[in-house]
Amino acid sequence: MTDVSPTPDFRASPVPRHVAVIMDGNGRWAREQALPRQEGHRAGMEAVREVIHGAAEAGVEILTLFAFSTENWFRPEEEIMALMTLLQLYADQEKDELRERNIRVRVLGDLSPLAAPVRDAIRRIEETTKQGSRLLVNLMVSYSGRAEILRATRSLARRVALGELDPDDIDEADLDAALDTCGLPDPDLLIRTSGEFRISNFMLWQLAYTELHITPVLWPDFTREHLFEAVCEFQRRERRFGRVTSPAS
Ligand code: IPE
Ligand code: IPE
Ligand code: MG
Repeated sequence: MTDVSPTPDFRASPVPRHVAVIMDGNGRWAREQALPRQEGHRAGMEAVREVIHGAAEAGVEILTLFAFSTENWFRPEEEIMALMTLLQLYADQEKDELRERNIRVRVLGDLSPLAAPVRDAIRRIEETTKQGSRLLVNLMVSYSGRAEILRATRSLARRVALGELDPDDIDEADLDAALDTCGLPDPDLLIRTSGEFRISNFMLWQLAYTELHITPVLWPDFTREHLFEAVCEFQRRERRFGRVTSPAS
């Protein structure tokens, strides 16, 4: 870990409270180095460590990392196994340091297809870090935006069927509360690495007014300096949320 470069002074304007990241490009990074894809994922794990510490230093409150999508289950068995093994390893290796740094980790998504040892490791990291209050890290695993919205829709439909909820009363707050990200503010900033200009089924509901930052950097090469650069660029954006800016007086 490189704890060397100083954190820039972000005090001039607000730091994004919630940063989401589509961590893409591990396979291409490995290909560039003539290594198997798995080595790209291993190097990507180092970048996860780097971005978590950078986010804590920058004063970000919530960091949501897209680690494995619902669609990624259609990758070759060998690659899925390697990714699951890395997730288990990451959870067990990092949990104590994360607790010491006052960082909380939660894993969100449909965890039912995960093998028991992986789910156990997830339970251990969540339990070990649950008091962390400096930064909340959401690792999105076996997650996709559409699947999440479907699960939320089913849960609201169940409440309607039980007579607990009137369909005409369903509002955005009800749907928000039924999502995996229940209780969290929407991301202010979304970073996607590897230069792809797409959302790839990530947080479809929550990203409605999120600022997008797309960088050509491949995920294993992403450092805290890249994160700081994205935060600085965010600070220069004007967010209007569909309204008009009040004219300068
Ligand atoms: C991101 O890197 C990691 C996961 C999606 C699990 P990729 O594995 O998608 O790498 P590329 O896009 O093939 O380079
Ligand atoms: C998005 O990357 C999913 C994760 C980063 C976990 P993908 O590599 O799966 O997305 P596509 O195929 O480029 O859209
Ligand atoms: Mg990819």
